[in-house]
Amino acid sequence: MRIYRALNYSDMSRKAANILSAQVILKPHCVLGLATGSSPLGVYRQLIEWYKKGDIDFSEVTTINLDEYAGISKDDPHSYRYFMKENFWSHVNIDPDRINIPDGTQTEEEDECIRYDRVIASSGGIDMQLLGLGRNGHIGFNEPGGAFDKDTHCVSLTESTIEANKRFFEREDDVPRKAYTMGIRSIMQARRILVIASGARKAGIVREAFFGPVTPMVPASVLQLHNNVTLVGDEGALSMI
Ligand code: GLP
Repeated sequence: MRIYRALNYSDMSRKAANILSAQVILKPHCVLGLATGSSPLGVYRQLIEWYKKGDIDFSEVTTINLDEYAGISKDDPHSYRYFMKENFWSHVNIDPDRINIPDGTQTEEEDECIRYDRVIASSGGIDMQLLGLGRNGHIGFNEPGGAFDKDTHCVSLTESTIEANKRFFEREDDVPRKAYTMGIRSIMQARRILVIASGARKAGIVREAFFGPVTPMVPASVLQLHNNVTLVGDEGALSMI
């Protein structure tokens, strides 16, 4: 694993955006695995800025998002589809036909998971997967205790995740209780993994995930077994390692 130490959130975002843009420049038809949450916002902002300057071209890129809340409409401002549209897709020249995210409106859970696994397989596999870290060590929405050998599945969110994500909703009761997520196996099949972490509140989980035992109780710890992981963290996030 490679660890890059950034000074602060914007430095972390720029370093991670540099790594992603190098991927796109080296392989213009690459497949990027994308993430939501507050961690990648700065990365997307930076990529948009470079796109507007003419430094990066997304026209051949395929994107596959990690996860989506279940039971939420596509236009709901809390949906991850909406988040991605607002914060990235609509600002760059990504072909809408090459954008992929689980469909949270699907009630036939198994069918939706099978469809999404087919999307990943038919893309030829993810070249670079961007990941944030949940407070409890979740990646995507793979919560502690889940098996490492899962592909896309529908999960029940833990109290800690509901608590962490309620800041985006008016009331805690509005936070969806279930989500579709790429599984740990799908994530581990990405050729390269880029993890970003910012702030002292992530310091404990960064240490556990990358320097603690590999255990399903800390889903991100499985990344220790991947042969091409880059972690970009700022001073706060790396303060315990
Ligand atoms: C959500 C997402 C994760 C993300 C996590 C951390 O739970 N499903 O993919 O990594 O939030 O969010 P943040 O970056 O806001 O700390």
